[in-house]
Amino acid sequence: MANVSFILVMVLVVVASLDAGEASTFQCDGPNGHQQATNLCSPFSRRGQPEPSSECCRAYRAFVGPADTTEEKRQLCACVQRNARLNPANITRVDSLPHKCGTPVVFSADPKFDCNTYVFHFPS
Ligand SMILES: *[C@@H]1O[C@H](CO)[C@@H](O)[C@H](O)[C@H]1NC(C)=O
Repeated sequence: MANVSFILVMVLVVVASLDAGEASTFQCDGPNGHQQATNLCSPFSRRGQPEPSSECCRAYRAFVGPADTTEEKRQLCACVQRNARLNPANITRVDSLPHKCGTPVVFSADPKFDCNTYVFHFPS
């Protein structure tokens, strides 16, 4: 009987963690989407503030954190590139946010970066 309850607890733990994973699906335009991060990071990415604020980094981490599958990382990359095209920012600074905010994501807001292959393509 003890074994049965142990298994039941394990099943519940797994189901609960699957739920948590689903709740944090990457969304370009979600409540923690690019808009929030863009607004809070603008002083750094557009207006020359020397370092991103802690509010910026918190929003940035909430924005990129949920992107953990390859497909979600591609969506994130495309989302950031589209945003950089629509709201011009300093690409060097946008690209420094993952490092400065402690998020392990590797991509570029530079349109020369191919979000599908994660390689820079320079015109020949
Ligand atoms: C963009 O930011 C980088 C790093 O701070 C700086 O060196 C560069 O001059 C900036 N570029 C423009 C166009 O402001």
